[in-house]
Amino acid sequence: MPVSSLPAVLPGTGGTDYARYMRTDELLALQKSPVDWVHPDELLFQIVHQSSELWLKLTRSLLSRALTHLSAGQAGAAELLVHRAAEALRLITEHLRILRSLPPAHFAVIRRALGNGSGFESPGWRLLRSATTELDIAFSRLLSSLRLTPADLYRGQPSDPLYRLAEALVAFDERIALWRTEHYSVATRVIGQGVLGTRHTPVDSLPALIAHRRFPTLWEARTALTQTSSPGACPRRVQP
Ligand code: HEM
Repeated sequence: MPVSSLPAVLPGTGGTDYARYMRTDELLALQKSPVDWVHPDELLFQIVHQSSELWLKLTRSLLSRALTHLSAGQAGAAELLVHRAAEALRLITEHLRILRSLPPAHFAVIRRALGNGSGFESPGWRLLRSATTELDIAFSRLLSSLRLTPADLYRGQPSDPLYRLAEALVAFDERIALWRTEHYSVATRVIGQGVLGTRHTPVDSLPALIAHRRFPTLWEARTALTQTSSPGACPRRVQP
């Protein structure tokens, strides 16, 4: 029997169970239709943003579940979820690559349709920020309850479940920085340098965000360990 002739049995309005479960009718209606395009490349621009928001929604959910495990003292289960969340960030970093093929002249047309809309308003990234803050606080509390500092943790065994979770959080933080690096690179490729974004933020202010850390104490612990091993070292500026 051909697959197409199987009847839909799930509740919903789609013509097939696939459409009903995946809500494809609604999903595929979420992009501007060709008659409303100011430029055909709007579809690319919208899909990259919309799909990023979906992955960020998943990331937020994974981090919330990780927080629940962390609060229950289940470091191993939390670590697995943080790793999966980092994979989602890797995927949306890959998504950015295709925007390199967006000609600046095309984006200059699309930009007029964006109003004051800016990536700073991304709900996915906003929720990610709050999720990482919650995890950071919970992890610090857990260490304090065990009378451990992050540096103590890093002096211990890398196979320790808490050490492994700390490393998963650091890897996640790195993923954010890698997304920001790629985003800055793509943004300047499309709109150039020395210009303002739609939120009137200079594009050249984006690199400063790359060094921002969501789990600062875990990075500070590394610095402290390095300083302990080479107390005489003095910071030197590297010439660009
Ligand atoms: C052609 C592609 C893109 C360009 C030219 C671009 C440009 C910019 C610019 C200039 C800013 C600074 C704020 C402003 O004034 O708007 C910004 C911020 C931001 N954009 Fe984009 N962007 C692009 C694609 C994306 C995509 C696909 C996302 C995914 C959601 C995104 C998310 C963000 C976020 C979260 C910020 C806040 C800064 C940060 O957290 O690092 N952008 N973007």
